Amino acid sequence: MKRLSNILLLFFLTVPVLAQPYLDPGRSVSERVDDLLSRMTLEEKIGQMTQVNFTLYNSTGRQDKVDLIPEKFIPLVRDHKIGSFLNGVAATPEVWERYSRQLQELNLKHSRLKIPLIYGMDHVHGTNYVTGGTIFPQPLNLAATFNDKWGREMGRVTAREAADLGHHWIFAPILDLAVNPYWPRVYETFGEEPLLAQRMGSAFIEAVETEPTIAPYKLAATAKHYLGYSGSDSGWDRTPAQIPQQYLYEFFVPAFRSAVDAGVDTVMINSAEINGTPTHANPRLLDQLLRKELGFEGVAVTDWEDILYLVSRHRVAHNEKEATRMAIEAGVDMSMTALTTTFPAVLKELVEEGAISEERIDKSVRRILSLKFRLGLFENPFPRADRFDRVGSSEHREMARMAAEESLVLLKNEDQLLPLQREIKLAVVGPNAFTKRDVSGGWTLNHQGGREEDYPARVKTVAHALKVEFPNLVKAEEADVVVAVVGEHPYAEGSGNIQDLTLPEEQLEVLKSAFSYGKPVVIVHMSGRPRLLGGFDEMADGFLWAGLPGFEGAPAIAGVLSGRINPSGRLPLSYPSAPGHFLPYHHKPQEKSTAAYPFGHGLSYTSFAASALEISENTASVTITNTGKVPGRHSVLWFLQDEVGRITRPVKRLRDYQSIRLDPGQSERLEYTITSRDLGYPDREGKLVLEEGWHTLSVEGQKIRIFQRDGRVIRTDKGEAL
Ligand code: GLC
Repeated sequence: MKRLSNILLLFFLTVPVLAQPYLDPGRSVSERVDDLLSRMTLEEKIGQMTQVNFTLYNSTGRQDKVDLIPEKFIPLVRDHKIGSFLNGVAATPEVWERYSRQLQELNLKHSRLKIPLIYGMDHVHGTNYVTGGTIFPQPLNLAATFNDKWGREMGRVTAREAADLGHHWIFAPILDLAVNPYWPRVYETFGEEPLLAQRMGSAFIEAVETEPTIAPYKLAATAKHYLGYSGSDSGWDRTPAQIPQQYLYEFFVPAFRSAVDAGVDTVMINSAEINGTPTHANPRLLDQLLRKELGFEGVAVTDWEDILYLVSRHRVAHNEKEATRMAIEAGVDMSMTALTTTFPAVLKELVEEGAISEERIDKSVRRILSLKFRLGLFENPFPRADRFDRVGSSEHREMARMAAEESLVLLKNEDQLLPLQREIKLAVVGPNAFTKRDVSGGWTLNHQGGREEDYPARVKTVAHALKVEFPNLVKAEEADVVVAVVGEHPYAEGSGNIQDLTLPEEQLEVLKSAFSYGKPVVIVHMSGRPRLLGGFDEMADGFLWAGLPGFEGAPAIAGVLSGRINPSGRLPLSYPSAPGHFLPYHHKPQEKSTAAYPFGHGLSYTSFAASALEISENTASVTITNTGKVPGRHSVLWFLQDEVGRITRPVKRLRDYQSIRLDPGQSERLEYTITSRDLGYPDREGKLVLEEGWHTLSVEGQKIRIFQRDGRVIRTDKGEAL
């Protein structure tokens, strides 16, 4: 009897697969896509191109609760055939697993062809929407480590904590450039240097998309926001950017080229306009550059409601129908309509009128179905609840702690005041010292940073961490040293728009008061961008740029002040000295930087020296020695300056970096191999221009001039033949 039932079971399992090849995992992705596409109606195809927010079907209609009301969800799949959903707020792994399971069950029940849904989440600095999840420093802090390991580790940990919960699609990394310090998303970037975004962003992508321990799941990463989003003139979120084509190729394109080369599955499009054309309606960027020049074959998803914003914000279209046609013709694959469900009907009308061909629809649906097949969603559509011990595990938190420690940048240390002796009488002032949310910033627990009471007990404030590190906390009047903790409060996107880079008056008051006691003052600055401190940093004896170091950040800050941790971070952006003037370090020769603290600045409690810089053919080498008394980590930065260029050349560009740890007296020899791309620059069409001539190679104070022809170094200024 049992044998018969097994045969029958096998029969009923195999018939669908034989009858419907797209269900056969043994077939190639393209075969499965072809078969499935051939079975789909136009509505079903367009539904796959639609992504809506969870608030359309949760119980509150607000971004405050992860749950679903079947009566609200089912019509989205049954009637609108929608194939993708997104977003949430911090919820426990148990809640997420139950929610994702129910969502997929209802979806498959009401999807005629049983196409699994794909779910997108903004896990941009750890699993920021999972209660108990590991929260890394924000990307700007990771960049300050100049250590790609932390881009990789954040991707690995994020994948391991999110994959089981039905979070198939990670809307990270952000590859925008922090070239305007006013921009409210500076903390989400890897700073002002494209190389950092290229290497750290790609490390994150590869980790998320190839992490083997999340089997049987696979996740998709997202290169965002394509392209030029951070180049806005006003520094406000989603405002116009005027970016010359050549500058776009030289500074904004490289990180996306590296992401595509790293195999990124998806790209999210920039909401703003460049040079008068909204990116969502720009075929030159979405098709010619992204597809033909960079070779991207994945899914291009809009950002939030951005097709509708072509009408309401950019006013390049009279109505949704015209906007939809522009966006699809430009190259959009999926619309994050977010809060509306009109997109499918509008697009269907355009196809039925012949304005958009079904062949064009098929092109996008192919990409979306290919993604779903590649992620294994047809075979493993459901979450699992047997590996929750990974969420917030001690091993994961150790990674976040180490990254936080390496991310702190000591900008000033007058008369070697720091590190402070453990026994001193220390006063701690400043509102940011007594809150948890100010240590992590936006995109934590929820979009705008969550409520203080929602932060886990294990997360420490800076004041608490200092109390642990320095037992004698006293009032400022009695103190030997005053620590003033200032900075921003959490924000994300438009809520972070500012008109003055200087911190608000109440923060300056804290600093003024801190100095009024006539004691040495150490400033700890926790912000998402280099806010100005009204000149008080010039008076300070110590100044620590902490950025937004995440859940493990407060003990790291305390550890640097006590010397338990030797700071090694270096600025990944130029820190302005005045509100009205800012330049990235890679500015042009006719400009002059007035940065208070330049790109790459960062002090240590030990000292390092570079020696014996040599070059052989295209490989340069240098010896780095710890010449101080304590062990320390040091990131070694290699710069090239192209001395003459037909298109004006930046005064210098970072071309390589390594992070090494040395004991006192220990040395290490490092190499950097110069590539043609390092010696040349893109022209207005993105084509590499290699003009023979002299370049100056500099590394940690050592310099050498090299002469290159066709990308080959053929001599140095010491006349040596190579
Ligand atoms: C937001 C952000 C984008 C995010 C998306 C989904 O508006 O611009 O970075 O991934 O919407 O939340």
